[in-house]
Amino acid sequence: MTTRVHVPLGERAYDIEIGAGLLTRAADFVKPHLERSRVAIVTDARVAELHLASLLSSCKSAGIDASYLSLPAGEGTKNWAHLQEVVEWLISEKIERNDTVLALGGGVIGDLVGFAAAILRRGVRFIQMPTSLLAQVDSSVGGKTAINSPLGKNLIGAFYQPKLVLADVLTLDSLTPRDFLAGYGEVVKYGLLGNADFFDWLEQNGPDLAAGDVEKRIEAVRVSCQMKADIVVRDETEQGERALLNLGHTFCHALEAATGYSERLLHGEGVAIGCALAFETSARLGLCSQEEPSRVRAHLKAMGMKTDLADIPGDLPPAAELIGLMYQDKKVVEGQLRFIMARGIGKAFVTDDVSSEVVEDVLKDALARV
Ligand code: GLY
Repeated sequence: MTTRVHVPLGERAYDIEIGAGLLTRAADFVKPHLERSRVAIVTDARVAELHLASLLSSCKSAGIDASYLSLPAGEGTKNWAHLQEVVEWLISEKIERNDTVLALGGGVIGDLVGFAAAILRRGVRFIQMPTSLLAQVDSSVGGKTAINSPLGKNLIGAFYQPKLVLADVLTLDSLTPRDFLAGYGEVVKYGLLGNADFFDWLEQNGPDLAAGDVEKRIEAVRVSCQMKADIVVRDETEQGERALLNLGHTFCHALEAATGYSERLLHGEGVAIGCALAFETSARLGLCSQEEPSRVRAHLKAMGMKTDLADIPGDLPPAAELIGLMYQDKKVVEGQLRFIMARGIGKAFVTDDVSSEVVEDVLKDALARV
């Protein structure tokens, strides 16, 4: 079964193909986009071991000449040094502006290779082949590409849309349960921000998704991508509404910084905790009833996910310091923090009218539970 989400962005429009086993027939999807039978693949060592052979064999059967570069796995790869390595490798491979680069991997590879594609020869074509749940539902869609600066995550980047996204849900079978659930944090985010029916569906079907149900995984990726596509089409460069996709992220970014972007807290885990805290703050502000944050937490807990600051191993800084870290957020405008708050499940909105005292109280209470 294969399903498609179209992203209608005019001359930058593209499809997201979602299905089971797509990598083994990747060339069928890639070939129509090629000007000549030649691709350059960039991946990481962990993903290469699991999935590169299928992709290479599909290219070979279709007569597509494919070379590849394998980088170290992990967030540390999203830096200037590896950006330089990718770009210079692509130049040495004589990749021309009309050639296509394939980004095979999770969010790190997608963001890094997308940015390399954006700047090489002022833009070469690229195709996203996301292999993690987080990348399939979020980072491979919508054209945000970036590397990290020593001063912060994703600070150097470009909006640059892929020509195609190929999401093979069978790659999710090789994720650890922890990585799968971290990606699931982003899936839940879509229900919470704008689709209460999807959140109901996740409450019913989340355990089947985690257990590996292929059709339900395809459906969850499809709905997430459709929601993201709808928002991106209305606000490609995040002048307004796209910020909704950052529900939970202001809290998450502070927590990631406080834990040194380490294994203590994966990004998707921070998003899940951040969503719970955003709903808690919304209830404190009287925007929604207390049942809403309780329901959010109950679902995350039922899935075996981190839901609170107490679930993060090790010490955390005091609330005032966490607030200080929030001011590094890209959403800060003229020194004002912007938050995504909610009037209920599926009813999120962007506001800069949240006092940092209320946020600090929410954090203090959460830290008291540690
Ligand atoms: N991950 C948020 C966005 O793509 O806008």
